[in-house]
Amino acid sequence: MAVNDNKIQNNLSKQNVLLYIMPQKIQKRRLEDMKTGAKKKGIQISQNYSSSVTHVVSEFTNLEQVLRILEVKTEAEIKDQHIVKIAWFIESIKAGHPVPVEIQHKIQLIMPKIQEEEKNVEPVIPEWACQRATPFKHFNEQFTEPLEILEKYAELRDQEQDYSRALAFRRASCVLKSLPYKVTNISSLKNIKDIGGHSSRVIKEILEDGYCQEVEDIVNDPWFHKMKLFSSIFGVGPSTAKKWIEKGWNNLQDINIEDLRNDWRVIWGVAFHEELMDSVSRTEADVFAQIVREEAEKILPGVSVVLTGGFRRGKPIGHDVDLLLTHPDVGSEIGLLATLLQRLEEKELILCGNHERSSFSPEVYQRDFKLSMRGQLDHFEKWLGICKFPKTFIEGCSDILTQINVTKKSVIKGSLDDCDEPKTKFRKLSSKALSPVDVFKSKRDWKARRVDLIISPFDQHYYALVGWTGNKHFNRDLRLYSQRVLNMKLTSHGLYDLSKNVTVPASSEKEVFENLNLTFREPSDRNC
Ligand code: CTP
Ligand code: MN
Ligand code: MN
Repeated sequence: MAVNDNKIQNNLSKQNVLLYIMPQKIQKRRLEDMKTGAKKKGIQISQNYSSSVTHVVSEFTNLEQVLRILEVKTEAEIKDQHIVKIAWFIESIKAGHPVPVEIQHKIQLIMPKIQEEEKNVEPVIPEWACQRATPFKHFNEQFTEPLEILEKYAELRDQEQDYSRALAFRRASCVLKSLPYKVTNISSLKNIKDIGGHSSRVIKEILEDGYCQEVEDIVNDPWFHKMKLFSSIFGVGPSTAKKWIEKGWNNLQDINIEDLRNDWRVIWGVAFHEELMDSVSRTEADVFAQIVREEAEKILPGVSVVLTGGFRRGKPIGHDVDLLLTHPDVGSEIGLLATLLQRLEEKELILCGNHERSSFSPEVYQRDFKLSMRGQLDHFEKWLGICKFPKTFIEGCSDILTQINVTKKSVIKGSLDDCDEPKTKFRKLSSKALSPVDVFKSKRDWKARRVDLIISPFDQHYYALVGWTGNKHFNRDLRLYSQRVLNMKLTSHGLYDLSKNVTVPASSEKEVFENLNLTFREPSDRNC
């Protein structure tokens, strides 16, 4: 904005003034009156905005709006022009000549409220992620996406031995997701302890250059591409992916099925990789959940089937369908999963999977929690596998339930004969079975989708619900917080008070948070 020298102002003659009245927000009639009034006083009016205009009169209260409409990119472009309120115009008409522009006449730049917060108020950020609301949609994707690439890279590089580097990037990303404004200034982050030196440098670089070179290098690193590709295969973790790269494998075609040590998950995972990489839509997940609910209800009336995981946190798509099953009568859930799997098999909804028996014993309450991905594994009875979703699911057919023919016999059976299948015994195998690759290539009216079915006894259910709702980082933070702050051990099976040596029950999800002395967070605010 021009800083006005009053002497110059006072010497302004009417001839030196060219007015442009912005028509926006001014009624047509009033605008005409204003123009007529100006002409009567001999003040020149321009019909259009141009650089020769000396005064822009507007009803807008924020300079930002004026500049946007005038299509002015920077304030420097208007340094010789006055952007003034209607009040200046009225005073000028009254005075019979353009009055000097005083501070009260100027239309000022009003920063949006969210940015004001960033500048003026030191944000109060709770120390733990589980004490903050972390929504799925937030203001700082520009930074969190690159930070999570660094996290992923560190995770793949260092793996289990050293998860701390990966974690540092995630912490920074997580805290940025919880900020109610877009970060525009690195200094506003200086007191946030979750943003360490490395992350801070990354954010600064993005603010200055629009990108971070280190992240660009990772994105273009062939090793990273291969690691991401291989570890995205069902049943393949980072250590297997590394071994494959060491063998010189570069893509899916290089994978030698013979070399897969008969791991059924990997065999199916490779064959169906392309399809499993498709996102699962919320509609598909809901249709499948409803089928499971109806079947489970027939087996065990009163059963509860909850769609958990990312969908429960409000994500519109996911990589799988996570269903948590329980029944208010503790013990009645035993045997449910085996029967349910049989029913789903009869309906030809199952491609392959592994039914794991429960490995729970009360001592898991006290077991050491490690700061690792493995630390999140639980001991519930569960089935992790791949289901066949008829294409009609995907299109979201409303009368879908009637379309699944219960009596139809499965023609396609996967060959699992040679596979080691620990604790799995529900699947009958046909000797004439097609190979997974043949199944993939066959003409079929279904798509392969990853499904997790988990059974929790009701007295552990609400802890299981929190655990299986996630996200993973929210859980990890919650567990670490419980341990460090409360001296309590939290798992998907329950909460164990290490000082008193007792378990702390919960009869709702809210009670889980109460027991942890935390404000309740809706699942949609657990997207750390
Ligand atoms: N989980 C778990 N034990 C496992 C696997 C997963 O407790 N053996 C938890 C995860 O920590 C996560 C939730 O269950 O909080 C769902 O896991 P997953 O399906 O892997 O992730 P989502 O958050 O659902 O992501 P997506 O939408 O991609 O499926
Ligand atoms: Mn999921
Ligand atoms: Mn899952």
